[in-house]
Amino acid sequence: MAVEITKSSILSGLICTSPAAILFGEVRYDVDVRKGDIAVPEKSLSGKVALVTGAAKRIGRSVALRLAEEGADVIVNYRHSKDAAEEVVAQITAMGRRAAAIQGDVAKRADVGALLAAVDSDFGRLDILVNNAGMFFPAKFEDLTEEEWDTILEVNLKSQFLCSQVATRLLRQSGAGRIINFASLGGLLAWPAYTHYCVSKAGVIMLTRCLARALAPEITVNAIAPGTISFPGDAPELAEDFIRRAPLARTGGPEDIEDAVVFLAKSPFVTGQVIVVDGGRTLT
Ligand SMILES: NC(=O)c1ccc[n+]([C@@H]2O[C@H](COP(=O)([O-])OP(=O)(O)OC[C@H]3O[C@@H](n4cnc5c(N)ncnc54)[C@H](OP(=O)(O)O)[C@@H]3O)[C@@H](O)[C@H]2O)c1
Repeated sequence: MAVEITKSSILSGLICTSPAAILFGEVRYDVDVRKGDIAVPEKSLSGKVALVTGAAKRIGRSVALRLAEEGADVIVNYRHSKDAAEEVVAQITAMGRRAAAIQGDVAKRADVGALLAAVDSDFGRLDILVNNAGMFFPAKFEDLTEEEWDTILEVNLKSQFLCSQVATRLLRQSGAGRIINFASLGGLLAWPAYTHYCVSKAGVIMLTRCLARALAPEITVNAIAPGTISFPGDAPELAEDFIRRAPLARTGGPEDIEDAVVFLAKSPFVTGQVIVVDGGRTLT
């Protein structure tokens, strides 16, 4: 028997009751549930559990939804945006996946401990950690306060250290753990009005490289460095400047970032790398 499967049949979890050949595009999968096969493409994230920090809105939200589309159950961490986080959870559960919104300030060890304890007790495993939560604001160097410096280093860098460290036990148990950190072009280019931000994101890149060695071979650790990713309501100045400089002459959309996250979530032989998703902006 040959069954042509569609995206929606994958999302709803197609199960065959007798041996079958499944055609996915031009690829044929022979499945037999009586031997324990499940009728989804090998590269699906079905059965995986993902935690996305700062996932109520914008990039984190789109990544959480995309991971669910790819088959994963998803924990949606948020700090202040409870209603938006619950909306993301509702969208994920409507796809037939499990999801939960869990509040927590990922720059605080106690909150991170409680977050991972909830993941363990409610989901029983963790396969993918996406360290997305972050903060971005300008400050002229002479005026940059110690408090602003500490805040951005804590939210952008220390949070990724804490979440990765506390999640290590569960990710190791997964057998194929993935950590995906959010860096930025600001970690590669020197922006004088964003010294604090650039230093925090450069730190993310080195954290990624060190953790890739420290946590191998059970866990891969990679980073994504987005260029300007536009959302409705963003101030137009940053986008205009980016478009003028980027060879591909546009800002990125959330789908550009989602694709990179999914690639890293599925890749068993890539670690310690930074994928720059910037329309070529760093070439200029
Ligand atoms: N957008 C871009 O163009 C761009 C470019 C380069 C890099 N990036 C990086 O990509 C990631 C996502 O970008 P974005 O623009 O979507 O980010 P964003 O809107 O600035 O922030 C995303 C979320 O982070 C959460 N957050 C902040 N501090 C937190 C904390 N201490 N604990 C838990 N959550 C916290 C917030 O959650 P609540 O709303 O719940 O408080 C917020 O919704 C960030 O790491 C950012 O630096 C983005």
